[in-house]
Amino acid sequence: MNEPTSETLEPQTPRSAQGEETEAVKPRKNGLDRGASEELAENMRQGWADTERHDLEAVPQAAHTARRRAVLSARFPGERLIVPAGTLKVRANDTYHPFRPGSDYVYLTADQSENGVLVLEPKDGGGHEATLHLLPRSDRDNGEFWLSARGELWDGRRNSLAENERLLGLASADIRRLTDLLADATGPVRVLRGLDAGVEEALRDKVTAEGDEEFRTFLSEMRLVKDDFELADLRFACEATARGFEDVVRVLDKAQANSERYIEGTFFLRARVEGNAVGYASICAAGPHATTIHWVRNDGPVRPGDLLLLDAGVETRNLYTADITRTLPVSGRFTPLQRTIYDAVLDAQQAGIEAVKPGASYRDFHEAAQRVLTERLVSWGLFGDLSVERVFELGLQRRWTMHGTGHMLGLDVHDCAAARAERYVGGPLEPGMVLTVEPGLYFQADDLTVPEEYRGIGVRIEDDILVTEDGREILSCALPRGADDVETWMASLLP
Ligand code: GLY
Ligand code: MN
Ligand code: MN
Repeated sequence: MNEPTSETLEPQTPRSAQGEETEAVKPRKNGLDRGASEELAENMRQGWADTERHDLEAVPQAAHTARRRAVLSARFPGERLIVPAGTLKVRANDTYHPFRPGSDYVYLTADQSENGVLVLEPKDGGGHEATLHLLPRSDRDNGEFWLSARGELWDGRRNSLAENERLLGLASADIRRLTDLLADATGPVRVLRGLDAGVEEALRDKVTAEGDEEFRTFLSEMRLVKDDFELADLRFACEATARGFEDVVRVLDKAQANSERYIEGTFFLRARVEGNAVGYASICAAGPHATTIHWVRNDGPVRPGDLLLLDAGVETRNLYTADITRTLPVSGRFTPLQRTIYDAVLDAQQAGIEAVKPGASYRDFHEAAQRVLTERLVSWGLFGDLSVERVFELGLQRRWTMHGTGHMLGLDVHDCAAARAERYVGGPLEPGMVLTVEPGLYFQADDLTVPEEYRGIGVRIEDDILVTEDGREILSCALPRGADDVETWMASLLP
């Protein structure tokens, strides 16, 4: 029996720019390729049905992504523009973390493939030709189908390039030829950095840090004002998140018998079933953990009488996320002190929400919420004789208010983070922007400057707000906010 030759069993595909094997053609590490007979190789080549789909129609975003690419094209005439999806991150050996494509790539393509790269090629007469570079279906003849690391037999069927063209309304090409194309490219190029080391390496001598930063900034600012498709998706994200919060209240007895982990798992089930995943690590913080802003260990007890601060968001299948926080009494009723602190945060949030309107400065809602919190803290005697004005001027309230009052929301939970100050934190609010308003008060368990009964209480209330032509709309309004309403809602759900 003949040994299989490298010609028959090794995928014959180009290499990456660095001259290394790409993920797509690397042999699998499970050993099946060792000792495979020529008969098996021949057997694996044959007997497969043609499953090409000719009936596919463009996804609903296609018109939006085309318009967004046109905006990008108009801003950078005559330049080659490159936006990668990102690559798989190894967890260990041949296992990987779940893949989530870069948000700018999704915004411009609606595609979610790992290793994809969008290239806008300048045309002679002006404008750009957009091409999506993707890994095509696995070749059956050269063994790639079953022998390579990204073979479809193992990873599942991919769309063909033609199918992707139909779905996305975007020309597609084999990603394995991209590095040759980039190596040959002349003229100005910009790349969105931090997503694909191979692409960046191929472009190393062709791009500048300043040019690429300007590109990143423009992309971020493009996403500040949401279009109709995005708003519909964000609405759905908020609705699904509300259902996830209801799920959590329904199992609070089981959470008490287990831990914060039960809450995290319960919300995740909703996120995975209705959406893609959670939009960020859920904060399931019971008792004093609620005072830790980034509590994501979620391994502590859930005790009757404590508050549960749940900050979580469903990410939709189009990858838009909600970001909602409710602080709930585990037993279903607030204690008088919990309610006093809760009401202070609620009033601050209401003041913040009312400051959200077109033309208002982005900073207004933060100032409004901080002022209310400061007034309450002063009224509780926590600053001795200092006036509200003086405390506010010195920022002393921040010991207990800790964080900013909100951020833009969209494909990323902290959306548009590369936007310049004059368009974001220093700019005016515009219709179509979506942001969170999320003040809080946090009294650490070891804070000796507050009365003992305050220690270990943390409250945050967070909603997702759309700036409209004449004011605002609370996208997350399906969840109650007022203390009485929260108690009534919980009573209808608690087991
Ligand atoms: N969950 C993250 C935030 O509220 O900003
Ligand atoms: Mn937030
Ligand atoms: Mn949040």
